[in-house]
Amino acid sequence: GAASKGDYRHFMLKEIFEQPEVIAATLEGRLGERSVPVESFGPDAETLFERAKQVHIVACGTSFHAGLVARYWLERYAGVPVQVEVASEYRYRTVVVPEGTLFVTLSQSGETADTLAALRFAREQGYLGSVAICNVPGSSLVRESDLTLMTQAGPEIGVASTKAFTTQLAALMLLTLALGRVKGLATETQAELVGALRELPKRVSQVLELDGEIEALSTAFAEKHHALFLGRGAHFPIALEGALKLKEISYIHAEAYPAGELKHGPLALVDSEMPVISVAPNDELLDKLKSNLQEVRARGGELFVFADERVGIEAQEGVHVLCLPHVHDALAPILYTVPLQLLSYHVAVLKGTDVDQPRNLAKSVTVE
Ligand code: G6P
Repeated sequence: GAASKGDYRHFMLKEIFEQPEVIAATLEGRLGERSVPVESFGPDAETLFERAKQVHIVACGTSFHAGLVARYWLERYAGVPVQVEVASEYRYRTVVVPEGTLFVTLSQSGETADTLAALRFAREQGYLGSVAICNVPGSSLVRESDLTLMTQAGPEIGVASTKAFTTQLAALMLLTLALGRVKGLATETQAELVGALRELPKRVSQVLELDGEIEALSTAFAEKHHALFLGRGAHFPIALEGALKLKEISYIHAEAYPAGELKHGPLALVDSEMPVISVAPNDELLDKLKSNLQEVRARGGELFVFADERVGIEAQEGVHVLCLPHVHDALAPILYTVPLQLLSYHVAVLKGTDVDQPRNLAKSVTVE
């Protein structure tokens, strides 16, 4: 039957709250005791992964941001060079494809015109083979790819993608572990990540409990015209995704920067009218991030920091801190996506926009 909003005011909110469940469903049956069985990707996966020397990832919109996170993961854990590109650029340029390159597409719908065209173009470029990570069984992308890994997000109605993104990330971590296993990733590291993945749905539920606090923070944004999102490492793409969500549904102009690039331009924009949102998981870049935040504060920017509970960043005048439960640093990009989704949602509700069907946008862009 037709999807229903249940008790939720919007599909988007319902879909945000479904994430613990759909992430668990995406992992279901694909986690071994201490590793990810390569066969999850199909009977031919082992041979294909063994031959893969690098990876090209192509996607659009939110799915592209998932690809950017995967680059950090695949290079770190599988040790293979990765390139990530938006499909509309990729399909129209001369692409150099080194021998032994795996082609990966990411798409919620499996029908995005540019992503599909990119796959068809790639077939002529001498790739090793193609993998699609997709949410719609039987979609064009799934039918035309050599290997598929289905996300189990269920129907996503809100135009702004939420649960499709976090399930794509879960699937990409499975791909990372499967490829990593073939490429000799330490068995201890594999076991550690598998354990962290098992815990992930619970952690996401804990973050959802912060909804009331995030709603309270959202009032600071309703009258603003611009916002800046900062992240470092694999959280730079999460900052990009946070900015995209805010743009899509609240129509507030938002940009994302890797925090280390702040002084190369965006710092000039920072004043008391520019809220700055930062994700601060407890990883090795934390100290650097802290000093970036001080630079913002020194220019009067109001800071909103989503931080690991163990980090010890303290709230003060002009600095709002929201603590998230501790999670394995590799999985933090998935966890830190959630408060940014909620923040955009509440800002959009305050602004009275059409949250599920923002102006000028479509759920699936099936024409160029
Ligand atoms: C549209 C949607 C986005 C989505 C993008 C890619 O722009 O509004 O939410 O991320 O298409 O869609 P896909 O189905 O390929 O993931």
